Amino acid sequence: MKLAVLTAGGDCPGLNAAIRAIVLSAHADGNQVLGIGHGFKGLAGPDLRDLGPEEVDGTIAQGGTILGASSFDPFREDAVDAVRETLDRESLDAIIVIGGEHSMEIARRLEVEHGLPTVGVPKTIDNDVVGTDLTFGFDTAVQIATEAIDRLHTTAESHDRVMVVEVMGRNTGWIALWSALAAGADAVLIPEVERTVPDLIETITRRHESGKDFSIVVVAEGATLHTAPGVGERVTISAREDHYGYERLGGIAVELARLLDAGTGFEVRATILGHIQRGGSPTSTDRVLATRLGNTAYEAVRNGDFGVMAALRGAETTLVPLAETAGVKKVDPEMVSLADRLGII
Ligand code: F6P
Repeated sequence: MKLAVLTAGGDCPGLNAAIRAIVLSAHADGNQVLGIGHGFKGLAGPDLRDLGPEEVDGTIAQGGTILGASSFDPFREDAVDAVRETLDRESLDAIIVIGGEHSMEIARRLEVEHGLPTVGVPKTIDNDVVGTDLTFGFDTAVQIATEAIDRLHTTAESHDRVMVVEVMGRNTGWIALWSALAAGADAVLIPEVERTVPDLIETITRRHESGKDFSIVVVAEGATLHTAPGVGERVTISAREDHYGYERLGGIAVELARLLDAGTGFEVRATILGHIQRGGSPTSTDRVLATRLGNTAYEAVRNGDFGVMAALRGAETTLVPLAETAGVKKVDPEMVSLADRLGII
């Protein structure tokens, strides 16, 4: 068999581990793998190269993607014919698409609307892909955010300050909630739960009145800044959307810090972690998950099982139809209840 693999959308730690698993599993069966440069752009390009065990040797610990990534969407760019031509010319038996929810939708449409053999592998620090319990990249991002919050804790305590730390996650609060719980934050703001600024001001003021002179507030970039119940806005860094049509989120920590400073009278500082959460070496959990999902996707290809996504359900890897991966996976209500019980949400 001859299969191709691409990494689409934003990068995340673990992509190379997934590519490596696909290459090693395919080569163990005597099959050939081509690497596609810069996501779907390289499929339309075309930009293809042979990927063998030597090319993936030593990549499991590397962040980013050896293939390059982009948010090129063949449907938006009118490039589906070019994609088909590449498949025909190269006699490709399958394409493995490693991507987030938008890339899974592209993979689904290529399969359903154009009969092209695709299999998906979910990745993203946001952990928002429907159909899988976890995406790789998430554990690393939570680890990075937790370490950063731990550091902010010590300086907050020294200076009696309120530290507002903004984490990524797009329209979901997975990274925010997990890192807030892991680092013992005092308050967390996520897109899934409406919490007003006056309520936060009251929480912080009460905490300081009870003898604690510092506070740590974690805010998800996609949270709404509610100045009153039902009244609020999201903060973006640009009026322009990205290639996939998403808002460019960022900066809510600065706005929130300004309001908390005015509302509490305490000294407040804002930190935006940004793309640091996406860079560097993956955690061992992400390396192993990426390896498992990469191998599961390869096995789907070998069995002629297309239009599916490799997924983690409970402790097992499995395949789910791409048609069942539409939408955005919101945070687990059980974890919201836990945060509520601890008084941080
Ligand atoms: O989807 C991953 C993510 O890092 C989001 O958390 C964030 O909103 C977005 O990508 C940032 O995208 P870009 O790299 O295009 O700025």
